Amino acid sequence: MELKIFETSEQLDVYAAELFTKLINEKPNAVLGLATGSTPIGIYEKMVESYHQKKVSFKGVTTYNLDEYVGLTPDNDQSYAYYMNKHLFSRVDIPSGQAHLPNGMAEDPEAECKRYDAMLNERPADIQLLGLGHNGHIGFNEPDDKLTAGTHVVKLKEETREANARFFASIDEVPREAVTMGVGSILKANTILLVVRGSDKARIVKEALTGPITTQVPASLLQTHPRLIVLVDREAGRFL
Ligand code: GLP
Repeated sequence: MELKIFETSEQLDVYAAELFTKLINEKPNAVLGLATGSTPIGIYEKMVESYHQKKVSFKGVTTYNLDEYVGLTPDNDQSYAYYMNKHLFSRVDIPSGQAHLPNGMAEDPEAECKRYDAMLNERPADIQLLGLGHNGHIGFNEPDDKLTAGTHVVKLKEETREANARFFASIDEVPREAVTMGVGSILKANTILLVVRGSDKARIVKEALTGPITTQVPASLLQTHPRLIVLVDREAGRFL
């Protein structure tokens, strides 16, 4: 594992965005695994800046997002499809057919999960960006006695719904289910880039990286990955 602790969030953003732009410049048809939440916003901002400065082009890039809420259409401003368009896809030159998210509106969710996994198996990510939930979840793989390897529909924990309620008008509007890549799909990426910010995540990031490997802390399975890069700000890294 490679761990970097940054003095400021902006330094982290610049470093992470450069990892992506360097990869894309070396491999213009790179496959990127992307994430949502508040953590990656600054990284996408820096990637867009690099694109405007003509330092990178996303024309040949393919992306797969980790997850999507069930029941939200892409034009719902709380959907992850909307988020990705707003922060990245509509601001760079990635062709829309190359930017993938699970379809949270699929009539047959099982079939949708299979479709998504078939794409992921065909082209595993060169790099998978991950944030970290307060309970140790990655994507929407929640703590449990067992975890699912492939893409699946998951019932969200109340604590996750509460944590994400800040983006919605009220907690009642937070969906109860999501489609998420499984931990097995995540671990297939060539490199994993885990990004964690803020003092409220200091304990869980320490537990995930140095505690026992357990399905009760899904991010702890990342310890088994041969190429794990962890970027944290000073606050999140204070116990590391
Ligand atoms: C959400 C997402 C995760 C994300 C996590 C942390 O539930 N499904 O992919 O990493 O929460 O979010 P934030 O970065 O806003 O703390």
